Amino acid sequence: MTPTTVHVSAEVEYDVVIGPDLLPSLNSMLTGADRVAIIHAPTQRTRAHDISILVGDCGMQVTEIELPDAEDAKSSSVAEMCWGILGNAAFTRNDVVISVGGGATTDVAGFVAATWLRGIRVIHVPTTLLGMVDAAVGGKTGINTAAGKNLVGSFHSPVGVLCDVTSLGTLPRADLVAGMAEVVKVGFARDTSILDDVRKSPEGALDPHGQLLPDLIRRAVQVKADVVSDDFRETSATSESRKLGREVLNYGHTFGHAIERTESYRWRHGDAVAVGMVYVAELSHLTGHLSAAGVAEHREILGLLGLPTTYEPGHWDALLSAMSVDKKARGSLLRFVILESIGSPVALQGPSVEAMRTAYDRISVS
Ligand code: GLY
Repeated sequence: MTPTTVHVSAEVEYDVVIGPDLLPSLNSMLTGADRVAIIHAPTQRTRAHDISILVGDCGMQVTEIELPDAEDAKSSSVAEMCWGILGNAAFTRNDVVISVGGGATTDVAGFVAATWLRGIRVIHVPTTLLGMVDAAVGGKTGINTAAGKNLVGSFHSPVGVLCDVTSLGTLPRADLVAGMAEVVKVGFARDTSILDDVRKSPEGALDPHGQLLPDLIRRAVQVKADVVSDDFRETSATSESRKLGREVLNYGHTFGHAIERTESYRWRHGDAVAVGMVYVAELSHLTGHLSAAGVAEHREILGLLGLPTTYEPGHWDALLSAMSVDKKARGSLLRFVILESIGSPVALQGPSVEAMRTAYDRISVS
C-alpha cells in the first residue's frame, strides 16, 4: 500500500500521512532540532524505542518518556513530570516532542509541547484508530482536572501526523470497533460515501490488514482536515447561529459525553458516541428534522459494526445533568448537532425537555 497524504491548513500547514511503515518520513519533520522527547503510552515502548534509534542515528539527543496508561496520563502531575524532564534535558524552542500512543497520549503530549517555552513543535504518531481519525488531527490538546475532562488545554497544531496503519494490527478488536464510531460519525455528518462502504463490507472496514480501513481513515481525516482548516478554534460553537463549523465533529458527543460521565468513564469513548448518535438521530426526528428511515440507518450501520445502540433506562436525571455540564462549559443553551437528513447537519439550540426525554426513552432498553 502506498502512503497517502491529507493536508491541513489550520493555524499552521501540516500533513497527515496514512500508510504502512512511515517512520522514515519523520526525519524531514525534525529539521533544526537538537533534542527530541518521545512521549509514549506504556504499550508503545517498542515502537517508541524504534523511533528513538532512528532519530538518534540522525545525531539528535533523544529522551524517552513513558506515560501511565490511557486517561491516567492526562493529569497535571504527568504534565509536570514531562516539563521536568524537558527542563533537565535543556529543551529549547528548536526541539521537538513526538507522541506515540492513543488519544490520551497525543492529548497530553500535545499539551506539554504547547506549554513548554510557550510552544514547541509536536509530531503525533497515533497508534489507535480513534487517535488517527480524531485526537491527533486538529490541534486540540488537554488534560483532565477535578473540574472535569479536557477543561484545561490549548489549541496547538502538530507539525505532522503519521498514521502507521500497521499499528492497528495489534489493537484489540473492541478498540478498533470503538474507533469506527468516529469514522461513521463523519459519514453521518458529512461524507455519506463512508456509510455506503461500511454497509457493503463491515468486516472489511474492521480488517486492519485490508485496503478498505486505510481508505476510510483517509476519508475521515480529510473531513476533519477540511473542518478544522475552516474553524480551527471552534468559534461556531459559541454563537447563536445554526451554522456549524468545527462543532460538527461533536455529532453524537453531547449525549455520548453524558454516558461517559454517568459511567465514570468506564465506557469506551467510541461506544458512548455510538449510542449518542442514535440518541441525537431520535432527537432530530422528534424535532421535525431527520426521517424515521434516517434514524433506522443509524441503528443499521452501527449494528453492522458491532457498536452499541442502546443504553439502560433509569438514568435520565444523571444524563440531563451531565449534558448541562457540557452546556455550562460552553456558556450557552443546551445545543446539539442534529441532522436535517443524512449528511446535512445543523445546530439545535434549547430543545424541549420532553423531546430530549422521549429520545432517551426510545434508545433505552433494560
Ligand atoms: N474531537 C473533536 C474536535 O477535534 O474538534
